[in-house]
Amino acid sequence: MNRIAGDQIEEIKSRVSIVDVIGQYVSLKKKGAHFVGLCPFHNEKTPSFTVNEEKGVFHCFGCGAGGDVFTFLMKIKGADFNEVLIYLAGISGVSLVNINKNKDVPGYYEINKMSSDYFRELLLSDSEGKKALEYLKTDRKLSMQTIDDYNIGYASKSWDGLLSFLKARNASLNPAFDIGLIIKKQKTDGYYDRFRGRIMFPINDVRGHIIAFSGRTFYNEEPKYLNSPDSTIYKKGMTLYGIDVARAEASKKGFIIFVEGFLDAIVMHQYGFKNTVATAGTAVSTFHINTVSKLVRDGVFIFDGDEAGEKASIRALDIIIDSPIEGRIVRLPEGYDPDTFLQKYGKDSMDKLVNNAGSLFEFYVKKRLEQSGKNTANRLKVLDEIVSIIQKIKTYPIKQELYIKKLEELSGISGTTIKKSFKKDAINNTRKGLPSGRNSDYIKDAELTLLAIVVEHPGIVRKLFNDGIVKMLTDPYVASSISHINTLYENGVRDIKTEFFHGQKEEKVNSVVSVAMLKELKESDIEELLEKSLKKIIKTFYVDEQKQLSIEIGKATLNGNSDILNELLKKKKELAVIQRQFL
Ligand code: UTP
Ligand code: MN
Repeated sequence: MNRIAGDQIEEIKSRVSIVDVIGQYVSLKKKGAHFVGLCPFHNEKTPSFTVNEEKGVFHCFGCGAGGDVFTFLMKIKGADFNEVLIYLAGISGVSLVNINKNKDVPGYYEINKMSSDYFRELLLSDSEGKKALEYLKTDRKLSMQTIDDYNIGYASKSWDGLLSFLKARNASLNPAFDIGLIIKKQKTDGYYDRFRGRIMFPINDVRGHIIAFSGRTFYNEEPKYLNSPDSTIYKKGMTLYGIDVARAEASKKGFIIFVEGFLDAIVMHQYGFKNTVATAGTAVSTFHINTVSKLVRDGVFIFDGDEAGEKASIRALDIIIDSPIEGRIVRLPEGYDPDTFLQKYGKDSMDKLVNNAGSLFEFYVKKRLEQSGKNTANRLKVLDEIVSIIQKIKTYPIKQELYIKKLEELSGISGTTIKKSFKKDAINNTRKGLPSGRNSDYIKDAELTLLAIVVEHPGIVRKLFNDGIVKMLTDPYVASSISHINTLYENGVRDIKTEFFHGQKEEKVNSVVSVAMLKELKESDIEELLEKSLKKIIKTFYVDEQKQLSIEIGKATLNGNSDILNELLKKKKELAVIQRQFL
């Protein structure tokens, strides 16, 4: 990582509160010098997830996850470093301009904004654009206010409309290519526009930055909607259309509405249901649910009345089952989507449907029991399926209890029997996938103290290598952390905290460093602590060596190999002399 990036990261970290950022995902409580909460990376009932504002670090004593604010966001969002960098730069107001120039990491949001302005202009002034505007107003019944609010635009049929516009603005083309606004020509050099002859809908992130576009064909071409490809700033499966607007509204109203199409979301907003988001062409994902569960506990899913709608509702149930969200369901009459339903029946009818929306779980249970009929074999199979769904609730015992009661009510099977039929192995299966939780116990305190000191004073690393201390460490992750710190130091990095967690590394390495950083070391005690921990490490090393030697001496005695035996005995004496120095 170059220095400029390092400085920017330092600047970002100094401006962003790790407690605030993590607090958006985890409910944190102050406890002594730290904040603690339930770890979002594994299931737990008592909080072992710890965040320290001052050190800018988090660590879970349960599963060992650890790192800084970047590591946390990368892990929870499944994002890469650059995405998180751009995101954090955005919230902290740190400009990435210098990085852009040097590393060619560009202003994606700026390019999108410029392009959106260009598309808007075309919708109002281009002859074809004006027709598209007329279509939006007359056929789709969108108000001018809505068209303005959602920055709807038009991309002309030209192959180089946007391209020429960007060139005229001296915009660098690489970023436009990265985010899929322009495509590289196959045979010759140069680019051409991705979106041609389409009505353009910008897709915003939570903060209202344009991260992608979806273009609806105005000429009945395939596909109906052409979307920006996934990029550094846009992941289709993670994005909720309308979330920037719906966020505040959902918090206010206490629930959020999910629809499938983003035009449906726009029309819902126009009719006053501004707490609506669209999954826009993908099924509801855990990420979507994570995003909204920070805002509300009540999610209303609007699905078509057809079979596809039913399938989608089952998928949604599966996703929200082990989440704090309680799902409700609206099924529209067959052949309608929220857009056409509203245009035909109006706001009040939609209001009724949303207000009366019943539990998604109940809907599903009733449906399945009804489908199973009186046939016992079918009924057994369906009940088994429902029980396994209930068993997926791992983190919300009260929710599970409620669902068990509900199933008892609807099926006549007692709650006790339902619980008894939970599959034992299912619990084991979930545990297996988790990282081992022994981190804090098995890492020797002395090695962690040493590591903590090294993080603060990387200058001593050289000596640790020269004195052979690093080879004496019992924990391989502490040893590789110290090696890594050495590499950083040799490369001129002095603030280890800022850069340690970035770059490819085994997770356990981040884990030991984060837990070491949580140690409260008084600067005035450092020398004493260093001496004590070195003594412990060296002593342990020689004790282990002695043990090992004794075993070998035993073997040599059994085999009657006197040469080796003498050699080993001599070594043992020497070791004893060295060892005495540290007792
Ligand atoms: P629909 O086909 O139901 O579209 O796709 P819609 O929202 O009703 O659109 P109109 O009313 O015909 O204009 C639902 C969602 O699936 C995605 C889009 O995000 C759309 O909002 N989709 C659909 C695509 O991404 N590509 C397509 O070709 C079609
Ligand atoms: Mn539609």
